[in-house]
Amino acid sequence: MKMWSGRFRQPLDPDFERWQRSFDFDRRLLRYELAASGAHARALKNAGVLSADELISILQGLEQIAQAAGVARALPPANSNHEQRTPEAAPAFPEDADAEDVHHFVEKQLAALIGETGYKLHSGRSRNEQIATDLRLFVRATIDQLLQSLGALCGVLADRAEQAADSAMPAYTHLQRAEPVLSAHWLLAYVEMFLRDAGRLADCRRRLNLCPLGSGAVAGATLPLDRGFMAQTLGFDAPTANSIDATSDRDFALEFANALSLLAVHLSRWAEEMILFSSEEYGFLVLPEAYSTGSSAMPQKKNPDLLELVRGKSGRILGNATALMIAAKGLPLAYNKDLQETQEPLFDSADTLLQMLPLVAGWMKAVEFHRERMQQAAQTGFMNAWAAATYLVQRGVPSRLAHERIGKAVQICLERNCELKDLPLAELQSLSPAFDQDFYQCLQLSAVLAIHDVPGGTAPARVRQAISAARKRIESLREEVHAHA
Ligand code: ARG
Repeated sequence: MKMWSGRFRQPLDPDFERWQRSFDFDRRLLRYELAASGAHARALKNAGVLSADELISILQGLEQIAQAAGVARALPPANSNHEQRTPEAAPAFPEDADAEDVHHFVEKQLAALIGETGYKLHSGRSRNEQIATDLRLFVRATIDQLLQSLGALCGVLADRAEQAADSAMPAYTHLQRAEPVLSAHWLLAYVEMFLRDAGRLADCRRRLNLCPLGSGAVAGATLPLDRGFMAQTLGFDAPTANSIDATSDRDFALEFANALSLLAVHLSRWAEEMILFSSEEYGFLVLPEAYSTGSSAMPQKKNPDLLELVRGKSGRILGNATALMIAAKGLPLAYNKDLQETQEPLFDSADTLLQMLPLVAGWMKAVEFHRERMQQAAQTGFMNAWAAATYLVQRGVPSRLAHERIGKAVQICLERNCELKDLPLAELQSLSPAFDQDFYQCLQLSAVLAIHDVPGGTAPARVRQAISAARKRIESLREEVHAHA
């Protein structure tokens, strides 16, 4: 039975009918649809609309659908973070060519299983509030999974930072050698980016955790349903405040998709840098064979496929966020069928990142750094020039003049193809009388690293502190994920 055929005299055009369905993609929301339906059924019973027997029979029916579909439980514990088994993966999943969407599917299945009582489940509710609820539950569960993966990735980066100990590498600005840094400091830069991403997702989760059930089609439920009870049953903090907003709001999906865009941008920058550093020209790292492929033509090749795909897939994640923003931007309140179009881009971004993050963590664990080559690169190319100018500043030379004097010294070195340390003291003193024998110490890599002795700087002691601070933040992210599981 259709959900709305009463007022129609003509059947739908069959092509239109097929085309407007969403069951092909919203079937993955089945687990949430069943959970929300269970909460609604209980509220109906409490409101006196269902008898105790009817409630039991509806709940059993929902459970049977869940089992047939391979969805672990129809009513997950609050904030369940169990690995989602997609209905597609379950061989027993009942196909239904006529189901318009996941809501229709459940209604049909329920009626087939328990008879007419099944049609009582929809009392006082609308698909508009259902889809809004299902999507919130989906985004919430996905955020929990992503936070777990981000925590694992940051953990690997922190491990690699610790293993790098005091080894150095060049840091670049404008992709030109700038100053030496500890490799650990460089790796921790990525931890910062990914922890910000985790923070954005956690923030999105906090804001989305309100329950639309009881909002009806637009004006609120037509039966006295206990909204607080339904919210609590589904692990939401409270019911949403306004039925018009609740049925049309997809901000949580937009926020989520945009948070994922930024995460994808970070992953893409990471991938780009690793690709560069793996090239012969840099030679800073060896691509892990387990994550690389060869060329069908050139026998010598080992290509950074994982990195290239990470960089490439960021495009579709950004595109999905844009698609969602554009789908939403012209919509009058409240529900419009356009909103159905927000699902596929949302699912695609979620799936893409859920698959990608563990692979990135695996790559990061496996990659081998050429520490000597990085260290060597950190000691050439005048990356001690600012430290050299600082030496003069500390001896009272105004910084603009110090900069200019060291610039002159660099120019002399460039002509002679040598480094600052190779210039004789007498020659330096002709540039500035402030130069002295101890100047040569300040040029050494360890001295250059050590002067960046501020919180967040690359002095080794500061970096060691930063590693343990990062570990604490990763741990509290893990605890947050645990609290939701
Ligand atoms: N499949 C629909 C969607 O995803 C469910 C809501 C349908 N509501 C309606 N009034 N037609 O948006």
